[in-house]
Amino acid sequence: MAKYPKFLMEHFQNPRNVGEISDPDGVGTVGNASCGDIMQMYIKVNANRIIEATFKTFGCGAAIATSSILTERIKGAALDEALKISEETAKEILSQLPKEKTPCFTLATDALKLAIEEYRCKQEGVHEKGGFDMKD
Ligand code: FES
Repeated sequence: MAKYPKFLMEHFQNPRNVGEISDPDGVGTVGNASCGDIMQMYIKVNANRIIEATFKTFGCGAAIATSSILTERIKGAALDEALKISEETAKEILSQLPKEKTPCFTLATDALKLAIEEYRCKQEGVHEKGGFDMKD
């Protein structure tokens, strides 16, 4: 069995920010093809900053711990800053764990990317237009 660093075990045993945001500005949903688990990340944005971030997952302990850590770290961050924090968090965590756990950890970072993308699309009105415009 893989050994997990203490800070990850703590987040696994006592995860923060679990659940949905009732009126989210962005939601990202991703799946881990290797195990079939699912992750959803919810964000609330104000003045281009993430003011709330939560997650729900059917993933393993590694997925739960990473999502808990990531949602804690991105609160208050501007959107681009949050993506940078996400990359740095992934590097930090992945450097301490076995390679086979990589897809579990990237669930959180991928879900965050999609949640931010969805928020940005809503801001640009892409959803209201019914999708992307085709060029002639
Ligand atoms: S084993 Fe499925 S997310 Fe980790």
